[in-house]
Amino acid sequence: MGRKKLDRFAQNEQNYNVVEDGKPFYANCKGKWQVEHFKNTNPLVLELACGRGEYSVGLAEQYPQKNFIGVDIKGARIWKGSTIAIEKGLENVAFLRTYIQNLEQFFDNKEISEIWIIHPDPRPKEADARRRLTHPRFLAMYKNLLQKDGWLHFKTDNTGLFDYTLEILQEQKIKNFSYTYDLHNSEFAQDHFGIKTKYEIVFEEKGEKIKYLKFQFEE
Ligand SMILES: C[S@@+](CC[C@H](N)C(=O)[O-])C[C@H]1O[C@@H](n2cnc3c(N)ncnc32)[C@H](O)[C@@H]1O
Repeated sequence: MGRKKLDRFAQNEQNYNVVEDGKPFYANCKGKWQVEHFKNTNPLVLELACGRGEYSVGLAEQYPQKNFIGVDIKGARIWKGSTIAIEKGLENVAFLRTYIQNLEQFFDNKEISEIWIIHPDPRPKEADARRRLTHPRFLAMYKNLLQKDGWLHFKTDNTGLFDYTLEILQEQKIKNFSYTYDLHNSEFAQDHFGIKTKYEIVFEEKGEKIKYLKFQFEE
């Protein structure tokens, strides 16, 4: 492993806003994020596949009365968001280093008020369908985690994954569903405050339009 990565991992160990294996709160955070970590009772918002955490940081600046938790398995990416949040003095941002399929080990049912899934890996092979973050097994987990009327937002550069997700959602009990194949030229653009992620910039430069949808689960 390179020196740079090792340095980043070492800093993650020191950074209060990174929750990862080896830290006491990691093994004991379920149901306790508001009171024990953020020390308030503000709503919890998840950014899944957060990478460098552009949405967690960007939305936290816009909504100081909400707590944001970026989730990703890659520590060197989380380091970037963690460091920026600290530099900006944002106390309403944290990062959880884990696999998204394990979220229910870290959050209680109905502990979450909103979920943003931001440019997840498209997993185009049919054999990998279960690993797509909008596969029904993930949606069932998000439904358990979300409070009544909690929003799920999904953003991707990948048309195949977006079409797959629209198809999957036809079988789900959802409400207030809306979507666009061109976020930046849509009525939803303002909800994103111009936040763009690393992957988004790469794929926009290749000519991809950014796709976006949001909905709430029916009870
Ligand atoms: C395509 S990148 C997007 C990163 C960022 N959202 C962006 O737009 O720049 C997908 C991210 O999802 C993370 N990831 C993929 N599958 C995951 C899983 N099952 N659990 C946790 N993280 C995962 C990867 O580590 C990677 O950082």
